[in-house]
Amino acid sequence: MKKRKIAVVFGTRPDTIKMAPIILELQKFSDQFEVLTIATAQHRQMLDQVLDVFKIKSSYDLDIMAPKQTLASLTAKIISGLDEIFAEEKPDMVLVQGDTTTTCIGSLAAFYHQIPVGHIEAGLRTNDKANPFPEEINRRITGCITDLHFASTATAKNSLLKENTDPSSIFVTGNTVVDALEYTVRENYKFTVPVLDTLVEKGNKIVLVTMHRRENWGLPMQGAANAIRRLASKYPELEFLFPVHMNPIVREVVYPILRGLKNVHLIEPLDYLDFVNIMAKSYLIFTDSGGVQEEGPHFGIPILVLRSVTERPDAVDYGTVKLVGLDEENIFDTAVQLIDNPLEYDKMANAINPYGDGLSAKRTIKIIKNYFGFSHENVDEFVPHH
Ligand code: UD1
Ligand code: UDP
Repeated sequence: MKKRKIAVVFGTRPDTIKMAPIILELQKFSDQFEVLTIATAQHRQMLDQVLDVFKIKSSYDLDIMAPKQTLASLTAKIISGLDEIFAEEKPDMVLVQGDTTTTCIGSLAAFYHQIPVGHIEAGLRTNDKANPFPEEINRRITGCITDLHFASTATAKNSLLKENTDPSSIFVTGNTVVDALEYTVRENYKFTVPVLDTLVEKGNKIVLVTMHRRENWGLPMQGAANAIRRLASKYPELEFLFPVHMNPIVREVVYPILRGLKNVHLIEPLDYLDFVNIMAKSYLIFTDSGGVQEEGPHFGIPILVLRSVTERPDAVDYGTVKLVGLDEENIFDTAVQLIDNPLEYDKMANAINPYGDGLSAKRTIKIIKNYFGFSHENVDEFVPHH
């Protein structure tokens, strides 16, 4: 049978981490697939960190990142860059992941060329177009265009069914974020950034913090940073480790509030290996990140999510994740209750990951092989283990 050309489009830190297991699995079937790796480079340094970790080379790199660029400028550069590549390469399928502008515009460019689209991590919804912004709309647009929906969970599948998506186009595969963790987390891991070794050797409890969401820019993010500041002075024996996102708008809020405190470590974004390995050793997580919400439950680490709504309700239902919003008092009070009360803490610390079992990329590629008629294999849906 004729080989099929699969264009895999990615561009930011999270979509690339979650696409990496798909690329590595696809590349195993070089007799059936030619894999084109297309980096929009919506992120630059934070993308290159991920490509290095997974040893992925891009066939194309649009290199579009510019400081503080607007969503419209990002959109324009991605669509014209991909338009040229798709016209030249004529792929048989385009794969996109998640809900970034790269994802949404990648699917739109494929649609204009009438190329079938596979969406990895399909069906996440808050049904609130302002939260998360602009991701809720990005993924809805992607969903309208998609031919093969790879949903992480049954919850995501149900959201797609409610939108009258053809059931035969939806597959519950689990989230490749767990495949990526299994590739990277090691018991005897040696960190590349000295402060991480120092913290681990010191033996104090580590509280990991990340923030970057656009809807939280400005006052909401200030509220969260103030709460972290108060917690750091109330609990001098806890070490707050905060790898700060490279977005200058985030840095302008975080640094003035949190710099200069002895037990708050503001550091550059960690490469994925360092990040997940220090996460595995952490005591508590504060985050507004999508991916981190899916990774923490793997290690049974309680997560306080700095958002008012989440498109990932499964770990909230399992009890590992609590939505605390952006109100300073609420974040502070909830954290104090958890830190002071070991019973409360233990209730949250369940190591059940509702998002994946490490086999998501394998399921996805089997489904793509079936789609092109290379095989006719039954693919079991992902079901979380209790
Ligand atoms: C983007 C995604 C968001 C995702 C997040 C993950 C969109 C609209 N937003 O948000 O969905 O959750 O990535 O981190 O798709 N920058 C650098 N170096 C980097 C990366 C970013 O300097 O490696 C700076 C640049 O000034 C850039 C700015 O951060 O203009 C914002 O980057 P952008 O991709 O537009 O938005 P994020 O907030 O990173
Ligand atoms: N991450 C990383 N280094 C860091 C912080 C996060 O490698 O310093 C990883 C993390 O493990 C997760 C992903 O980046 O897989 C999440 O990315 P981000 O929070 O930027 O985006 P989101 O998931 O919110 O879209």
